[in-house]
Parts: sequence; structure tokens; C-alpha cells
Amino acid sequence: MANYAVAKLYDLLLYPFLNKIRKKTAKIIIQLNPKSVIDICCGTGNQLEYLKNTDIKLTGIDLSPAMLKVAKHIDCYEQDARDIQFSDNSFDLVMIQLALHEKSFDDQKMIIDEASRITRNNGHLLIVDYEINEKTKPYSRYVINAIEFLAGKEHFKNFKEYHKNECTNKLISNNVFLLEKKVLIAGKSMALQIYRKTNN
Ligand SMILES: C[S@@+](CC[C@H](N)C(=O)[O-])C[C@H]1O[C@@H](n2cnc3c(N)ncnc32)[C@H](O)[C@@H]1O
Repeated sequence: MANYAVAKLYDLLLYPFLNKIRKKTAKIIIQLNPKSVIDICCGTGNQLEYLKNTDIKLTGIDLSPAMLKVAKHIDCYEQDARDIQFSDNSFDLVMIQLALHEKSFDDQKMIIDEASRITRNNGHLLIVDYEINEKTKPYSRYVINAIEFLAGKEHFKNFKEYHKNECTNKLISNNVFLLEKKVLIAGKSMALQIYRKTNN
């Protein structure tokens, strides 16, 4: 993310699109009753804002200082999601929202490995990301494809690869995480998935 002004605009521009998703995600997190939540690639910390009036201990990490500057009211740290500076089994719930699709498969793997390491046994991994397929409403498909195209060559390439690799299917091992719930949202253009970390 280029600078603070762009980071500030990020929430404003995306609010109409993301507000409903953020609310739904927050509701599901609250139902799972975690004591601690980390948002990996938290951006401006906007999803965490929706949980601010709870007792949950909220943490975020992101690589962009500009995005983190907007997230100043929450405990957000500049950290690389591929090499997270928290110890094993530190969080009840680990969340990755709208961040995997824009990364290379190798980076996605590293992030999931780190997410797995810091999730406590029997804790949850919550992923919200695109899942564009024949069920997706045509309008949503066109708009999202346009946004991803405009986000740049590398970003668009990774977005397409993510779908070629069946989104999270090849990324998340059944030996480590069991899928507990999957909800299609945003005109069936996104999947909200909740996994439970096994004791393996
Ligand atoms: C599309 S934004 C999504 C932000 C946020 N999760 C949301 O839902 O609004 C992706 C975020 O990933 C961050 N990011 C990219 N690579 C990262 C890395 N290796 N480690 C941590 N954050 C990273 C970017 O700085 C950006 O804020």
C-alpha cells in the first residue's frame, strides 16, 4: 500500500462493499467465543474495529506501515505474515481476510503454516476470501475481476492462480485443520470458512 492517504481512503471506498461482510464475520467470531483473536494481514484493522466492544483481546499484523497507521486504536504490529513474531499456540482464533488471493502460492503456504503454528490446539482459523465460480452472480464476477485487474499485473496473476489452485482447497491440510463451516457471501463471490485446528 503506497501511502497514508491511500490507506485512509481504503476503508472509505470499500465500506459499502465490505460493511455487511465485516458484520457477518464479527458475528461468527463472537459466537465462537474466543478470548484472543489475531488478524493476519489486517490492513487498516477495520475488521478488528467491529469487535472492539467485546472482551476479546484483539491483535493485528500487517507489512504496510501506512495501513497500520490507520489502525492506531488497536494493537497492530508491523510483521511479515510469513514469519510471525508470536509464539506457538498463542491465539484462540486466527483470521485471514481478503489477503491470500493476492499472494503467490508459496507465500500462501508460508502464511498458512504460520497461522497453524500460532493457533492453539482446538482453536479456529477463519478465512474470508474470493471464490469466484459458476455460482457467483455475474455482476459480482465482473466487478471483482475488474478490481483485481486494476490492482496490477502481479496481483491479477496471483488472483487467477488462486482460483486455478481451487482457492483454499490445496492450501489447507485436512490433517491440521478440519472445515467446520463454509458460508458463501457477497453474491456468492466469497467464501467465509471456519476451520478447527486438530491435535495432530
Ligand atoms: C487486500 S489487503 C486486506 C486487508 C484486510 N485484511 C482487509 O480485509 O481489509 C491485504 C493486506 O495484506 C498486507 N500484506 C501483504 N503482504 C503481507 C505480508 N507478507 N505480511 C503481512 N501483511 C501483508 C498488505 O499490506 C495489505 O494491507
